[in-house]
Amino acid sequence: MSERHALVTGGAGGIGNHLVGLLLEKGWHVRVVDNFSSGTRANLARFSGRKEFEFRELDVLDLDGLKGAMEGIDFVWHLAANPDIRKGIIETDLDLRQGPVATRNVLEAMRVRGTKGIAFSSSSTVYGFPRTFPTPEDYGPLLPESVYGGSKLACEGLISSFAHTYGMQGWIFRFANIIGPGATHGVIYDFIMKLKKDPTRLEVLGDGRQRKGYQWVTDCVGAMVHCTETANERVNVFNLAPEDTISVAEIARQVVDAWGGTARIEFTGGERGWAGDVPQQNLAIDRLRSTGFQSRYNSQEAVRKTIEVLRQELA
Ligand SMILES: NC(=O)c1ccc[n+]([C@@H]2O[C@H](COP(=O)([O-])OP(=O)(O)OC[C@H]3O[C@@H](n4cnc5c(N)ncnc54)[C@H](O)[C@@H]3O)[C@@H](O)[C@H]2O)c1
Repeated sequence: MSERHALVTGGAGGIGNHLVGLLLEKGWHVRVVDNFSSGTRANLARFSGRKEFEFRELDVLDLDGLKGAMEGIDFVWHLAANPDIRKGIIETDLDLRQGPVATRNVLEAMRVRGTKGIAFSSSSTVYGFPRTFPTPEDYGPLLPESVYGGSKLACEGLISSFAHTYGMQGWIFRFANIIGPGATHGVIYDFIMKLKKDPTRLEVLGDGRQRKGYQWVTDCVGAMVHCTETANERVNVFNLAPEDTISVAEIARQVVDAWGGTARIEFTGGERGWAGDVPQQNLAIDRLRSTGFQSRYNSQEAVRKTIEVLRQELA
């Protein structure tokens, strides 16, 4: 079989490094570009020295650098972005630059180099607060409530338009919450950091009744790779989520219990944790199931395992 070369943007991140590991396992040559704005060198340490692995420190906003990194690439996994919804509330141009501007750069570098396939890490936030649960991929109109969600939706549009205009193919993955080892953000990470600072109390943003799906990271990357191997439309859109959901209050309870059980849980109140947060996220996964993919862990199990590993990693 001839060599296949993948480019992973954001490969040093919490999700990206697991994707890199899986692609290498599957025989791909993998080039990672990352600027370490939220990812870490430690996440890539286990690949160093492997001849099928290459790393370039690069900001995807550098279009010329990206055109260079795209040379010889057959398929792109575009994960680099600002991962933190709340940051986009303060810096209103952050998600614009790290979203559509960065994604246009990736697509433009692909166009110039003749690369035809792209997989993209989108988000359930493109649905805003939908009226239909579980929410299917063809739900509309798509009216995101966060700037981050608006940025992801714009990226989806760019991928679809480049695919149709320049004969490319796109796989768009709308993630639930992805959790597991190597995370540098997210609700469990935040709770553990808060308890490290003050073990007597845990502040929870909102009323704790926000309910969402939490997917174990290797289930997420396994599903992404599986869908690119089994779905073959011009543009393929998939929700990636486990079957069940869990409330923020339940997660807070589990983190506090793992921390000795004594901290007082204090809710700031209101059905949303912050502007742009949605009280409920429950994604329909019939399309994912129809490809034959089966997640290994549900939300309950993924949360329990993540608390265990992050407790050790952040000790
Ligand atoms: N974790 C989740 O729950 C979740 C949910 C929905 C969507 N996503 C999306 O999945 C992707 C990966 O998220 P993650 O949780 O692994 O976050 P992460 O912060 O761990 O990974 C993002 C990576 O991209 C890199 N990066 C950011 N901007 C860059 C730039 N301009 N140039 C080069 N590298 C850059 C960061 O250094 C980091 O390594 C992101 O696009 C995120 O929006 C994540």
